[in-house]
Amino acid sequence: MCGIVGYTGPDEVLPILIEGLSRLEYRGYDSSGVALLDPDASGDSSDGGLWIRRRPGKLSELKRVIDDVPAHARLGIGHTRWATHGGPTEANAHPHTDETGRLALVHNGIVETFAEIRRELIGAGVTLKSETDTELVAHLIGRHLVAHGGSLVEAVRIVMKDIEGALAIVVMHADFPDSIVAARKGPPLVAGLTADAGLVGSDIPALLAHTRDIYVVEDERVVEIRPGRITAWDLEGNEVVLTPKTITWSLEAAQKDGYEDFMLKEIHEQPATIRDTLVGRTEPGSHRLHLDDMRLSEDALRNVDRVSILGCGTSFHSGMVAKYAIEHWTRLPCEVDLSSEYRYRDPVLDARTLVIGVSQSGETADTIEACKHAGHWDAKVVAVTNVVDSSLARDADAVLYTHAGPEIGVAATKTFLAQVVALETLALYLAQVRGTMKPEVTGELLAELHLLPDKIQQVVDQSDEIRKIAERFADRRDFFFIGRGVGYPTALEGALKLKEISYVRAEGFAAGELKHGPIALIEPGVVAVGVCTKSFVRLKTLSNVQEVKARGATTILIANEGDREAAEAADVLITVPTTEELFAPAIDVVALQLFSYWLAKARGTDVDMPRNLAKTVTVE
Ligand code: F6R
Repeated sequence: MCGIVGYTGPDEVLPILIEGLSRLEYRGYDSSGVALLDPDASGDSSDGGLWIRRRPGKLSELKRVIDDVPAHARLGIGHTRWATHGGPTEANAHPHTDETGRLALVHNGIVETFAEIRRELIGAGVTLKSETDTELVAHLIGRHLVAHGGSLVEAVRIVMKDIEGALAIVVMHADFPDSIVAARKGPPLVAGLTADAGLVGSDIPALLAHTRDIYVVEDERVVEIRPGRITAWDLEGNEVVLTPKTITWSLEAAQKDGYEDFMLKEIHEQPATIRDTLVGRTEPGSHRLHLDDMRLSEDALRNVDRVSILGCGTSFHSGMVAKYAIEHWTRLPCEVDLSSEYRYRDPVLDARTLVIGVSQSGETADTIEACKHAGHWDAKVVAVTNVVDSSLARDADAVLYTHAGPEIGVAATKTFLAQVVALETLALYLAQVRGTMKPEVTGELLAELHLLPDKIQQVVDQSDEIRKIAERFADRRDFFFIGRGVGYPTALEGALKLKEISYVRAEGFAAGELKHGPIALIEPGVVAVGVCTKSFVRLKTLSNVQEVKARGATTILIANEGDREAAEAADVLITVPTTEELFAPAIDVVALQLFSYWLAKARGTDVDMPRNLAKTVTVE
């Protein structure tokens, strides 16, 4: 996700911004930019008194275009952009300016009412220079200042109060030469002070080289940062007190936000991830979904008579979950295939097949090639990916972004949840467009979808208890993960997580399939992990659990609160909140992620960079 940094104080600002941005590179980005206040510019200079440079690509690209830096520039803002609205081009890179060119703004997040505001501004005669939602915010604040005068703080407050979406913004203006104004609705912001300087950033590492006295900006606050001084207000304009905390962590630890590893941090981010995946697509209380951002016409979706989902590893597992949802909600036949098999097996497809390529990175060679193969048969290809402008996204007819933010741990966690939710949203959208579901049923499902983040949080909060369980099993060598229905892909994903980070043998099976072979391997010492949450096949799964228990396996069951049968069948029980059956993988898998994480930690492996694995697999 985007990185933000701002500085006002006695020192030359540009090196401070570049250093701060480099500390945020771990968040992932595809373009960057800076704006400095030029103290020598005349009030009416054509560039509005601001010096701005932006570049697509890495920070090194930005550094190459840094020339004629205004002498004595002591205030500025910088940004690393992770594209959402509009590709990673120079025009879309931040900072963005208003019509006067005297206001510059950087932003992390998404404006939900983007299309509406864009229409209004164009109608009011504003010429937009980019495809971004961010530029719109710069215009709104700038126009408020021109129309009503007053302070920059007040203009930012009014606009932030009205605007819908997730926003952390930082604004500077040539008419307010020593202050930076920042505001937050959702995404994080931190500020820092020294005796004679003020700093702001999207994360603590951006500030740590200058100060360890950090103010975490609370949600729905506006702050004004001046040299040595910071003032905060709520969105009603009431001044509020800010209390600093002293950071004692190292820089590396700060990038992990206090967590031991990126994987643990990413597991904890999952409630927010799901909110971000849903933003702009469905609002609480609504019976309708909007997937306009996917850019595939409703007619094209009505024309589909079959769906094929392609992916590898974790992405294949989220595709398996989606198959259950698509068939159940739309009555379209749906197959799910490993990308590496699909392209070589002469699949049956034509122009009425909807092919969904699922890939976190969007760069997995197997999935890219499998989707190209489908394209040759005129199938419509939708990419479901986390990386804007990735190869898969560029080649596809339409793209549904998962908006999970960069994932650094090699083992996929938050991107699996984001894929499940994005794919199920797509399944519901297909049902809506094709009229296979009553609006009130869609409404109920959407309402449940909005409850997922809180329910996932309840599982994340059990991390400590799950750690104690995992530690008890750290010396076991054989784990079987079993489930039925969507519990089956959940079991496969649980087994994959455990094997890839802890190097113990862990296999996933459809619970009903055990007695057709794998049960021969069950003996005392084997651990069977059963996914037994609410489902119409729950009792059948529990019978399969009894079969392995009778042959000496130790059973760890993931079940819902109050499930007596599961409690009786379990040697160890982990309870998770109940949800609609087809959404359950997004909750149940979190318990399995935490179990795998803590078991690997107990075995002393490197969870963020497991042996033999790469985050992006660009070879066949
Ligand atoms: C497992 C994992 C891999 C990836 C697979 C596909 O934790 O990360 O199995 O899921 O390599 O990668 P993407 O989704 O980038 O296509």
